[in-house]
Amino acid sequence: TGEMSGCPMHGEGGLRALLGRTNKDWWPDMLAIDILTPNGASNPLGEDFDYAEAFNALDYNALKADLTALMTDSQPWWPADYGHYGPFFIRMAWHAAGTYRTADGRGGANSGQQRFAPLDSWPDNGNLDKARRLLWPIKAKYGNNISWADLFILAGNVAIESMGGPSFGFGGGRADVFEPERDIYWGSEDKWVNQGVQTRIDPTKEMNDIEGPLAAIQMGLIYVNPEGPQGNPHDDAGMARDMRETFRRMAMNDEEVVALTAGGHTFGKAHGNGDASLLGAAPAGGDLAAQGFGWVSTHESGGIGEHTVTSGIEGAWTNTPDKWSENYFRLLLDYDYELVQSPAGANQWQPINQKEEDMAPAAWDPSIKVPTMMTTADMQLKRDPEYRKISERFRHDHEAFKDAFARAWFKLTHRDMGPKARYLGPEVPAEDLIWQDPVPAGTKPSDADVAAVKQKIADSGLTVSQLVKTAWASASTYRKSDHRGGANGARVALAPQKDWDVNEPAMLAKVIDTLNGLRGSMSLADAIVLGGVVALEKAGAGNVPFTGGRGDATQDQTDVESFDWLEPEADAFRNYVGKKKLAVKTEEMMLDRASLLGLSVPEMTVLIGGLRVLGANHGDRGHGHFTKRSGQLTNDFFVNLLGMTNVWKATDDTEEEYVATDRKSGGETWRATRADLVFGSNSELRAVAEIYAQKDGEEKFKRDFVKAWNKVMNADRFDLSYAKYHR
Ligand code: HEM
Repeated sequence: TGEMSGCPMHGEGGLRALLGRTNKDWWPDMLAIDILTPNGASNPLGEDFDYAEAFNALDYNALKADLTALMTDSQPWWPADYGHYGPFFIRMAWHAAGTYRTADGRGGANSGQQRFAPLDSWPDNGNLDKARRLLWPIKAKYGNNISWADLFILAGNVAIESMGGPSFGFGGGRADVFEPERDIYWGSEDKWVNQGVQTRIDPTKEMNDIEGPLAAIQMGLIYVNPEGPQGNPHDDAGMARDMRETFRRMAMNDEEVVALTAGGHTFGKAHGNGDASLLGAAPAGGDLAAQGFGWVSTHESGGIGEHTVTSGIEGAWTNTPDKWSENYFRLLLDYDYELVQSPAGANQWQPINQKEEDMAPAAWDPSIKVPTMMTTADMQLKRDPEYRKISERFRHDHEAFKDAFARAWFKLTHRDMGPKARYLGPEVPAEDLIWQDPVPAGTKPSDADVAAVKQKIADSGLTVSQLVKTAWASASTYRKSDHRGGANGARVALAPQKDWDVNEPAMLAKVIDTLNGLRGSMSLADAIVLGGVVALEKAGAGNVPFTGGRGDATQDQTDVESFDWLEPEADAFRNYVGKKKLAVKTEEMMLDRASLLGLSVPEMTVLIGGLRVLGANHGDRGHGHFTKRSGQLTNDFFVNLLGMTNVWKATDDTEEEYVATDRKSGGETWRATRADLVFGSNSELRAVAEIYAQKDGEEKFKRDFVKAWNKVMNADRFDLSYAKYHR
C-alpha cells in the first residue's frame, strides 16, 4: 500500500478522479462483473418488475411476526448476545441508513447497497455480513415482496419494538439494485481507518473542512472514530467536533445526535474480547470457500460468541442491553469514568467503583457480571456542554427522550426516500415532517385554463431565455439520489432558492412576479413549467406536452438550511461555475449533475446543446452560444462545434474559458467553457454530438430535446406516479 495520493485535504485537489478509489483499486482480484452489465443491466427482476406493487401485496404482519421470532432464534454459527439479535440488527439498519449525506443525497438505505462492495467490507460494517445472512431465510420466504433494502430497515424497527423501544412508523418502498452504485464518491484515500489514515478534518482549519460531499471522518467509517480523533481518547473537543460535523452532514442536529446515540446504545454491546490480528479478509477480499463471509477468525473458538471481535471495543453500555430503559443516561451521568483498554487493545471508558447491580450480564452467560463501558464518542454526550444539556433534559424527561429517539430514528431511516408519496405500507405515520419537504396537493388545471394562461404568458413580454431559465431553475434541483428538489412546490420562489446566484435573483423575481400576476387559479409551480412550454413552442420545438397538477409550498414548509444543500456549485446546463474553486473539473461537475438528474449520455448532450441556443446561459454569458439565431431551437451548437473552421485556445492557464478563431481569417468566432468543448473533445460525447449535428439530425434533435426537457420537468411527479399505489 503506497502513500496517500491525491487526497484533496493534503495535496492537489484536482488530482482526484470524480469517483475516487474504486472497488477494483481496493480489491484488484475482484471479478469484473461489470463487463456484462452496462447501464445497470444486472437486475434479474427485469424492467417490468414493479417493486411498489409487489410490496403492496406483501403479508406485512406475517413478515413482522417472522422477524420478531428471528430476534431470539440464536444460531450456533453466530450466536446471539443475550439470546437476542435485536441490537445487532439495529446496528445493521443504522449503518445501512448512515451512509446518506445531504450534500448530494447519495448513500443511505434506499437501494440495499450494504450488500455490495465497498460498503459490505468497510471496517465499520464489520460482521454485518452475518446479520444479513441471519435474515436470508426470511428474505427467501417472502421473495420479491420484500426488498433487502426494506428488510434492513424493517428488521431494525422490529428489533427496537421487540425490546420495548419506541417506534414512529415505517414506510416501505426501497427497491433493490443489483450492483454497486458506481456514481458514489467515497473519498480518495487508499487506506482504511484502521491503517492509520489521517482524519479528514484538519484541526488547524475551520471545523467543517471535510471534502464535499463526504460525511465521515475517515475512509471506511459511517461517521466518527469511536475511540477518539485518530484514536486519541483524550481529545474531547476534537471528538465532539467530529460528531457534530459528520452528523450535520446528514442533517442531524445536536438533539438528534444525543437521542440517536443514547437510544441506540441503550441496546447491545461492542465486541473486542480477543485478538484483532486473527481476523481474516473482509467479504470482498475473501477466497471462494469463505462464500462472502468476512473477518473470519482463526481463534480456537472460531472467534464467535464470547470471542467476537468487531470494533475492538468490548462491553455493553447498560446493565439491561436487551431492553429499552433509562439506564444509558443514568450510568453515563451518575458515574465517573476512567480510561481502560479492551482485550483487543481499544481505548474505552469504564465506570469507577461500579455497583454490581449496575454491571451488565455477560453476553454469553447471564450469571456472570461484567463492567459496562462508554466509547470516547459516548463520553461527549456528558463532556460537551451542549450535548450535556440535552442529556440532562432527556434523563429527567424520559418521554421526551423516547419521542426524540423515535423521530430521529424514523428520519435517519427514511430521509433518503424523498417525498412521503413514496412511502408504502400500513405503518406510514400520518404526521407531515419538515424534512420530507411537504408540498400541498395541487389541482389539475382544465385544458381551457392551460390554454388561457399559455396565451397570457406568450403576451407577457417574457423572453424565451427568461422562461427557459426559470423553468430549468425550478425543475433541475431534482436529484434522484434522495428524490428531493424539483419543480413541484415552486420552491424556486422561496428562500433560499430565490436568492441563489445560479438562479439570477433579479431576473427570477421579475419572471415570478409576472407569472403570479397572470396565472389565475393555476399553481405557480405549474405556471413556471408552462412558461417553459410556451418558450419552447415559440422557439420552434413543435408541440410540447404539459402535465399540470403541481402544488405550491409555503416558506413554513421549507427548511431553508436543508435546501441550502441543493444549491449547485456549478451548473453546466446554464454554463455556470460558482465562485468557489472546486476540486473537480467543470465537466466532471456536469456529469455529476446529469447523473443526479437521472439523465443518459444522449439526454445530457441534447439538453446542453438545446439550452445553449435558447440562451439559457447564466447572466447571458456568451460562451457556447454557437448560433446567430438565438432563441430558436436549432442544432447550431453541434454543427458549429464540430465544424473544422475553428481553432480553439484557452484564454488563460486556468483553462476554464476558450476562444475560437477562424482557421482562414484568424478572426474571433466563438467563446466556450470546458462544459461546451468537452462535447467535441471527448470521443464518446463527440459521437453523440455528431448524431445531432448531421444533416438528418435536426428533427431528431428537437424531438429528443423536448423529451429530455420533459423528463426533467416531471422528474419529481411522485404525486402522479405513486397515486396508483395508494388506492
Ligand atoms: C454498536 C459506535 C451511533 C446503535 C456500536 C459499536 C461501536 C459504536 C464502536 C460496537 C460495534 C461492535 O464492536 O460490535 C458508535 C458511534 C456512534 C454510534 C461512535 C456515533 C457517534 C449509533 C447510533 C445507533 C447506534 C446512531 C442507532 C440509533 C448501535 C447498536 C450497537 C452499536 C444497537 C450494538 C450492536 C450489537 O450489539 O451488536 N456503536 N455508534 N450507534 N451501535 Fe453505535
